[in-house]
Parts: sequence; structure tokens; C-alpha cells
Amino acid sequence: MPTEKTIDYDMVSKVYDEVRKGDLKMISPILERMQLDPSSNILDAGCGTANHTQLLASITGAKIVGLDLSAGMLSHACRKSPALTFIQASIDLTPFPDASFDLVYMTEVLHHIQNFEKTIQELSRLLVGGGALCIVTQSHSQIESRATSHFFPSTVSLDKKRYPPISSIEDAMKRSGLNSVESISFQFPPVVLGIEYLETVKKKGYSMLLKLDESEYQEGLSKLQAAYSHGKVLRYPAGYTYVWGWRR
Ligand SMILES: C[S@@+](CC[C@H](N)C(=O)[O-])C[C@H]1O[C@@H](n2cnc3c(N)ncnc32)[C@H](O)[C@@H]1O
Repeated sequence: MPTEKTIDYDMVSKVYDEVRKGDLKMISPILERMQLDPSSNILDAGCGTANHTQLLASITGAKIVGLDLSAGMLSHACRKSPALTFIQASIDLTPFPDASFDLVYMTEVLHHIQNFEKTIQELSRLLVGGGALCIVTQSHSQIESRATSHFFPSTVSLDKKRYPPISSIEDAMKRSGLNSVESISFQFPPVVLGIEYLETVKKKGYSMLLKLDESEYQEGLSKLQAAYSHGKVLRYPAGYTYVWGWRR
């Protein structure tokens, strides 16, 4: 049985690409850490509409497979990147043999997973000797400093429940037999939020907004709209944590 989805990504897929783009900043720490070339085999676990799959494939020429549970997200992925391979499966029960990939990475997925321990075990199984698992997520302090946390304060406690603490991810990697486990936190330069941030919020393009009570969502949206209409400059830092483990 596939893992239960917490958010209906088949619905979300209808607007996802209007509100999320592939971001070179997100994959640069991976490119800096690993030598990837056309001989590399990579799994993008929870690839969504292939925003980062496509970017990594075009830069490295590597053989990348995208895996996702949502048929809706995958139909956009296949349309955008017909040359890449996509598979519909749950991340904690994949159809690949042991030792299939040099790199398995996952961007912004772990907080959607019911059983992250089982997921990390499964993804570790797929690594060749010398291969790496890289989980890109946010620490609890990075969650606190998001723009969305300022306008929608309840999202902080909601997301602290959804996002496993970094130390728990590291421990699960070690229990799965991975070595040299470490996490590297990146604070990207603060960005001034343009009108596209408001548009994304209006479309509930951030998954934690789908979890809020409608009245809290409307209250935060009004605060945000007022800030824009008073010409307030909204500048917030964005930060991600890359948790690495290696099959030695
Ligand atoms: C926020 S999106 C991130 C997509 C992509 N990694 C990116 O960076 O744009 C989360 C994705 O995780 C997928 N997902 C959630 N639970 C999953 C599971 N158990 N197995 C596979 N994919 C899953 C969703 O369908 C969705 O496409």
C-alpha cells in the first residue's frame, strides 16, 4: 500500500508551476559537493513537476529518474521533460534494485512523508558504494525566519510538527547504515518579496497554508495585502539545510 498523501498534490499540480520554479540556489550545494556527469545515475525522490530534475539534468547531463506519488505532478513533469524517466511510486517503497544510484536527493519532500525513518532506510538501500543521500529541508529555526511565519504565525507550530528536526534525520541516516553523516545549513541572501509572493499566497502555493484554518489564512492575507498597499519593503532571509549521508 502506498503511503497516504497528506496534501492532495494532484489538485496542487494544477497551479504548482505558476507558483514554484526550479531554483539554481537549491541545487548549487549539491553540485559543489559531488562530481556529477553524464555517467552518473541520480534519483530525484519526490520530484514533483521536475523543476529541479530538469535543472540538474541540463547542467550535468546525468541520467536522472524522477519519482513521485502524484500522477498530476508527474504529468506536468513528463510534458516539460520528455527525455527524462519518471516513475509513479511511493518514496518509502520504490521499485529499484539495491545499489541503483550514485546520488539520491530530495528537495522539500520530507515534511510530507508519514514515516521518514522507513523512507530514509529505503533511499539508503538504493545507493551504490560511495553514493550519497542528500535531503534538502528546513531546520526549525529556518522555519521561524520565513516570511510566511511572520504573516501566518500558526504555520510555525504546524510546520515544526511536519518537519523532522535535523538531528532526527541524521540519526535515521546513521541507523540506515550511512556514514559521514552531516548537515550543512545555507542562509541565502535576504530577498525582497515582490508581488509574486502575494500571488503565491493567494493561490495557497505554500503547502502549510493549506493546513491553516480559513479564518487565520484570511487574517494573514489581509495583513500581507495591507503591507503591500502601504509600500512596505518586505525583506526576508531564506534558508535550507542539506543533510548528507554516504554509503562507504
Ligand atoms: C513541495 S513538492 C516538492 C517537489 C520537488 N521536489 C521540488 O523541489 O519542486 C512535494 C512533492 O512530494 C511528493 N510526495 C509526497 N509524498 C510522497 C510519497 N510518499 N512518495 C513520493 N512522493 C511524494 C508530492 O507528490 C509532491 O510532488
